[in-house]
Amino acid sequence: MINFEALFKVTYGLYIVSSGDKTRANGFISNTVFQVTSEPPAFAACCNKLNFTTEFIQKQGLFSISVLGKDTPTEIFTNFGYKSGREIDKMAGMDIRYGESGLPIVLNSSIAFLECKVMQTIDLGTHLLFIGMLLHADLLDVTKDPMTYQYYREVKKGFSPKNAPTYIDKEKLLTNVKDASLKQYKCPVCGYIYDEADETKRFKDLADDWLCPLCGCEKEEFFEIK
Ligand SMILES: Cc1cc2nc3c(=O)[nH]c(=O)nc-3n(C[C@H](O)[C@H](O)[C@H](O)COP(=O)(O)O)c2cc1C
Repeated sequence: MINFEALFKVTYGLYIVSSGDKTRANGFISNTVFQVTSEPPAFAACCNKLNFTTEFIQKQGLFSISVLGKDTPTEIFTNFGYKSGREIDKMAGMDIRYGESGLPIVLNSSIAFLECKVMQTIDLGTHLLFIGMLLHADLLDVTKDPMTYQYYREVKKGFSPKNAPTYIDKEKLLTNVKDASLKQYKCPVCGYIYDEADETKRFKDLADDWLCPLCGCEKEEFFEIK
């Protein structure tokens, strides 16, 4: 048996993985970045093949990692984690620095950054695992702590969408509903679930102009999970 709640006990940070150059750059939210060796210092980033950024990394052989701080606002997750650079320029209006490797580095809400050169690419089916040798790294804000995936889930009420390696269909987790009259409503765009058991208002009592906190989808588009 698999108790999916056990998977949430595995800890992660939150990052923006970017690639490209001054002519065109793109980035996405990732919680699957981790150091794999110390000699040489190397990092892995697990990137969905459907992510636009993945194409940039494959072409350029380079990627940057912005380590997000604990106070990162929802808009950053919405922009980089729920929209694709195929439709919008996600870097427009962002505070971007071009690193020593020429890579774009998103500075918004970031407390540190790393620049990596791809040494190896492992094909995992849905995802490519890029192993990158560390070229440069520096601190951006020493006063703040990094955001953890647990904090993002429990305090920010965020979760991983389908492209993320840690995505779990939330319906698999809804086995312990205490009050049968409490309902869940799902966003058809990003999969966000408004769970009345975790909220102070019934979904029907939310204002008509209420929007999905993650992707901005309208209330009337939500559907009830039966
Ligand atoms: C909390 C969170 C974690 C995510 N983690 C990953 C990840 O580790 N790998 C991945 O490929 N996508 C991950 N995603 C999904 C991408 O950020 C998302 O598909 C993004 O829209 C891709 O953008 P792009 O097409 O512009 O590259 C995550 C999203 C969120 C919100």
